[in-house]
Formats: sequence, C-alpha cells, structure tokens
Amino acid sequence: MGTHVSVVTGGGSGIGLAVARTLVAQGHVVVVDRDTSALADAKAEGFDAVHADVGSTDDWRHLITHIRTRYGRLDALVHNAGTAHIAALVESSDQDFHRVLDTNVLSVLIGTREAWNLLVDSRGCVVNVASISALVGQDRAAAYVASKGAVVALTRALAVEFAPHGVRVNSVCPGSTMTPLLERHFANLPEGEEAQRKLVQRHPIGRLLTPEDIAPTIVHLTQPSAAAVTGANFVVDGGLTATFDFGSTFAGGGQHADA
Ligand SMILES: NC(=O)c1ccc[n+]([C@@H]2O[C@H](COP(=O)([O-])OP(=O)(O)OC[C@H]3O[C@@H](n4cnc5c(N)ncnc54)[C@H](O)[C@@H]3O)[C@@H](O)[C@H]2O)c1
Repeated sequence: MGTHVSVVTGGGSGIGLAVARTLVAQGHVVVVDRDTSALADAKAEGFDAVHADVGSTDDWRHLITHIRTRYGRLDALVHNAGTAHIAALVESSDQDFHRVLDTNVLSVLIGTREAWNLLVDSRGCVVNVASISALVGQDRAAAYVASKGAVVALTRALAVEFAPHGVRVNSVCPGSTMTPLLERHFANLPEGEEAQRKLVQRHPIGRLLTPEDIAPTIVHLTQPSAAAVTGANFVVDGGLTATFDFGSTFAGGGQHADA
C-alpha cells in the first residue's frame, strides 16, 4: 500500500490550509486553489500545489489525471473551497447565484464524480465543508444558505450510494471562523468591529473559532478510526446554534455578557 494521499480544495487559505497542515503528517497533500499567490505560498511550504477552479469540470479532470499519474491513489478528498455572497435577494444577479452554487455545490458533485474510480480503488473518503448556514436562516444570504444546505443533503445521498463500495462521505459545519473570508466580511461592514463584538457575545464559548478549531474534526473523519462514520454531519460552532435568545426570560447564563 502506498503513502496516504489527500486533496484539499481551497487549501491555500483559512480552514483548508489548517486541514492541509494537519493532514501532511499522514502523507502527501495536494493543495488545490484558484488563488495563484496562495498556491505559491503552499508550494513554498512543501505542498503539491495545483491550480484549479473547483467549478470547472476540465480543471477536475486535469487534477485527477495528475493525482493518478503521480500517486496512483486518493485516500481523502476534502471539498473545502467555498465562496460567500451577502446581499439582499433583489440585489443579487444570476451571476452571483451561479458563482455561489458552482463553487459550493457543483464542485462537490463534479469533483466527487471525477474522483470516483480513484476513491473506490483506494477505498478513500470524502469530507464536505458546509456551514451552520445549512442549519439556520441567515439574513441576506439565500444563495449561500441554499448552497450549504445542499452540501449537507448531498452528503447523505452520496454516503448511501458509496457505502457498498467502501467509500465514506461526511460533512462538517463550521461556525464563525476567523479566516480571510470572515475578516473580509467584517471589514466590509460599516460597523464591523461592533458587529464582531456582538457575534462573540452570542457564542457560549465566549469567542469566535479559529481554523485550528475546525481542522481536527475534518481530519478525524479521514482516519481509519472513523471507519463506521458515514452520512453524518458534524457541527463545530462554539455552541452558537445550540442557543436561542430568550431575552431576559431565563437570565443568568448562556451568553458572554462581558466578552
Ligand atoms: N470562515 C467561516 O466563518 C466559515 C463558516 C462556515 C463555513 N465556512 C466554509 O469553510 C470553507 C473555507 O472557508 P474559509 O473561511 O477558510 O475561506 P477562505 O476565503 O479563507 O479560503 C477559501 C479558499 O478557497 C479558495 N477558492 C474559492 N473559490 C474557489 C474556486 N472556485 N476554486 C478553487 N479555489 C477556490 C480561495 O481562493 C481560498 O483560498 C468554505 O466552504 C466556507 O464556506 C467558513
């Protein structure tokens, strides 16, 4: 049996980079991204860095050919690349919808299909990075919410379809994680610092998450110790979606008033 081979899409930044840095202890990690400067950094760090747009079937075909030729196996495929679009529905274009759904959903369908033979031959696994936006409503984010809900739903469907072939499929829903994606979001808000402070307060653990908080759950799902876990969704959100704002009805706990 050859050395373990993982692919992490969007591995040039944030959560994906933390996953790639953890998975490298097990073997080869192919970092896939469309950001050329992030890829150059990943390459300098020793990763096999491949340029691809995860919404493109051609790019997936090139990537899979590369993996087959260079490694001959694929043990873990982490669909992490994602993009957000925060805007009112009536201010969103068709192009906005297509960008979000292509990057977040079609990428998982197309990429997993193209990797299918390699995954089956290697009895590999797939981990899809969704979001807590799959579980709760989010203002001005209908396309993003739809995309992440679809990722959680298609994870279950693929898990059922792939189980007889020895391929596991699971999803992880990160909460508010301080990555360039969320930093850009706060920077674009008129009162970004205040919004961030309020968001921290709503987290029972009293802080936002870091990529290093999310990566271990994703990596765990790629391990032999998770052999019986498939079709499951894991929430890593510091307790945010476990809470509900009862106002002052049950005062005394659950929110970090002094955060
Ligand atoms: N940060 C959060 O709070 C948060 C919360 C829930 C879910 N998520 C999800 O986690 C995943 C990673 O997000 P992050 O916060 O680390 O973001 P990030 O912006 O820091 O990193 C995402 C990476 O994906 C790459 N990427 C984007 N579109 C791509 C495409 N079409 N093809 C190839 N690469 C592409 C980007 O270049 C970037 O390097 C995303 O799926 C995101 O939706 C993030």
